[in-house]
Amino acid sequence: MPHILLKQHNDIDIKNSSNFSFIAKGKYDQKICANFENKEFLLTKVEKNGNDLIKLDNATRLTPVSLMKTALNEYEKESKSELLFTNTNSSYNKMKPEETYIKTIDYFANDFTTDKEIWVEVGFGSGVHLLHQAMQNPDKLIIGLEIHYPSIEQVLKQLKIQNITNVLIVNYDARLFLEFLDSNAVGRVFVHFPVPWDKKPHRRVMSIGFIEECMRVLKVTGTLELRTDSPNYFEYSSSLLEHFKAYPHKILKNKDLDVTSKYEARWKRQEKDIWDITISAIEESEQVEFLTDFSFSDIYDIEKIKNNLPKKAIVSKEYLINFEDWYDVKTKDGNSALLVKVTFGSFNRPVTKYLYIENGNSRYFQGEPITTRVNLEAHQNILELLK
Ligand SMILES: C[S@@+](CC[C@H](N)C(=O)[O-])C[C@H]1O[C@@H](n2cnc3c(N)ncnc32)[C@H](O)[C@@H]1O
Repeated sequence: MPHILLKQHNDIDIKNSSNFSFIAKGKYDQKICANFENKEFLLTKVEKNGNDLIKLDNATRLTPVSLMKTALNEYEKESKSELLFTNTNSSYNKMKPEETYIKTIDYFANDFTTDKEIWVEVGFGSGVHLLHQAMQNPDKLIIGLEIHYPSIEQVLKQLKIQNITNVLIVNYDARLFLEFLDSNAVGRVFVHFPVPWDKKPHRRVMSIGFIEECMRVLKVTGTLELRTDSPNYFEYSSSLLEHFKAYPHKILKNKDLDVTSKYEARWKRQEKDIWDITISAIEESEQVEFLTDFSFSDIYDIEKIKNNLPKKAIVSKEYLINFEDWYDVKTKDGNSALLVKVTFGSFNRPVTKYLYIENGNSRYFQGEPITTRVNLEAHQNILELLK
């Protein structure tokens, strides 16, 4: 993690700086807002053994890392302090993911469109099935969802080597992803050998909500295809079918597929049973529209907010909100503002953002959160709490 260590020093001259726009002071550390190449992010200044450590603020880190290193180097110059240590000049060697194939969730929230029928693979692991389907079906766009980054890196390399162009990879929880897809756009959803989570069933991918979302995104006759070697998972998934009586389904035992994943091969060698459950969509679903309003229209009383922000996390049925910290901001023109660090959204994928609160000019620092239904609901609650 890039950082610099400087001799203890006074605040930099924000008023005359073209690189830094405000300093925000908290109980334990300071945040300095950096502006480089039209991007904004925060540096953290914290006392360390009588000196000042300047590092990146985790919640606002962005790429390229070189930009953030530049900010640290510029900060050093503007501090006019003695540099005691830096690691900001060494080159950053981490492999850059192949950007053609891997997409951020922001891309799916804001820019994704396709003319092709979509197939989705949940938890593709070694990617054997994903690569096979992509090669056999060049007219389909295959979206692969995986939360294990080493598996993603391995598959990205294969996609490049085999010059496969009809796959998009997303590092995101499958239980939360489908809401980014249009209704009736998907031909097949594969859930092959999901983690059974026998001790934590609430973490399972298959649930009533997930099947409902599959039926929405699937086109008529499109299929959700579960394959599992776990008797428990099979029993559990069969019980979910009770809620989907109107939807045709097929259950098969020990069916051979055209391709065998590494994971499946292991169970086959041990002669374990494998079950398939296939559920078909039967009707056109309506498009889901929600208002994407993350604005702050009220004028806020900063002192009141500081005194009244809830100290404990607020937990509703679908989301949480946790105000973690706040900082007094000194702006260039001498106005006061407040920077509030808040973690909110779904339990499985909460986001951490800063709220920049200045009279009549409040906003999410670094832009709005990803547009999801729970984020929007949490935002409405945040507005109430700020009042
Ligand atoms: C047992 S492996 C099976 C991999 C592959 N489908 C196969 O058949 O070989 C399960 C995979 O699902 C991934 N996974 C688990 N929960 C997930 C979730 N909520 N969203 C996306 N992927 C998930 C895991 O990281 C793991 O790679």
